[in-house]
Amino acid sequence: MILLNPGPVCTSERVRNALMRGDMCHRESEFSTLLSSTRKKILQAFAPYGNYTTAIITGSGTASLEAGVCSSVSEGKKVLIINNGVYGDRISRIASAYRFNKVELQYDWREQPDLEQIEDAVSKDSDIEVVAMVHHETTTGLLNPIHEVGAITGKYGRTFLLDSISGLGGEEIDLATDNVDICIGTSNKCIQGLPGLSFVIIKQDEIKRLRNIPPRSLYLNIIAQLDEQEEKGECPFTPSVQTFYAFDEALRELLEEGVQNRIGRYRKASSYLRDEFKRLSLELLLPDELLSNTITALHLPENMTYANLHDSLKEKGFIIYAGQGQLNKKIFRIANMGEISTDDLQSLIKNLQKVLEDSK
Ligand SMILES: Cc1ncc(COP(=O)(O)O)c(C=O)c1O
Repeated sequence: MILLNPGPVCTSERVRNALMRGDMCHRESEFSTLLSSTRKKILQAFAPYGNYTTAIITGSGTASLEAGVCSSVSEGKKVLIINNGVYGDRISRIASAYRFNKVELQYDWREQPDLEQIEDAVSKDSDIEVVAMVHHETTTGLLNPIHEVGAITGKYGRTFLLDSISGLGGEEIDLATDNVDICIGTSNKCIQGLPGLSFVIIKQDEIKRLRNIPPRSLYLNIIAQLDEQEEKGECPFTPSVQTFYAFDEALRELLEEGVQNRIGRYRKASSYLRDEFKRLSLELLLPDELLSNTITALHLPENMTYANLHDSLKEKGFIIYAGQGQLNKKIFRIANMGEISTDDLQSLIKNLQKVLEDSK
């Protein structure tokens, strides 16, 4: 099966084989070596200029996102959430679960947020301590303006928390220049590892502030995770050891390919797909200028349900992805993250064309 869902993605044989390296006790020096090497590779790939550190958490992307949110808002302070999709909404739901005071700016799922409104909210409310946003809204394939929002949080001295779970490895980002203080990533999307591990990249200067916030979770506390990983070279709780092997291998592959080349490969693939979708008279949900390198959301053709389209393509070996929430009945999504060859993409288009023609 060629997975065209936005994670978990198709992985290389090298990554899958890494799972078989054998059993290992996570309290032995061999695991410390693996942990240290994997953390180093994350920083090499996404924060190469120092001043950042990282903690890896066993759990899906939401685990690290929750750790980031619940560890970063001081008692009595507020988090401002920029919400233009399912994952912006997820940050809001995490904030609600922890009973945080929140200011939520909601936007149409097909629009970027209003920067003036964000600056206005931040400048007028000194209780807003953290501004949280999604980098690449997987809901629609929309890219949010990280550079501009980072400029606002930098100007007013607030913490910028970025969910780049579907961005890292696929989109341009410079954490230092974009003023990102806390960045969340996952192993099984553009990094092309396996599901089960996620991570938080955090600016060194931010750690002191976080230390003053009493822990609200035992497992999902960034400081506790970081201290244990940095000082003892261990994870506080049983890590998914074999998934670490695969993640380390996926990061090795990413560094060999080069992050810029990976981004370029995805950009080229999405550009090919979009040209072909247009040729097949499929209508894109978003205008070109808002699109990421890795997801294309398309209106369902009039004579077709998602189930028909999905099942027909699955029969041919391709897994596409449904729309979420309000877009569930209206769109479908095709992601081009992961180990997907040009031949696979061409074959997808050929099969999609046939399915569309047969439905007429
Ligand atoms: C932007 C974004 N944030 C958060 C998540 C949640 O990640 P997970 O399903 O790994 O918990 C996803 C998953 O698709 C995502 O795309």
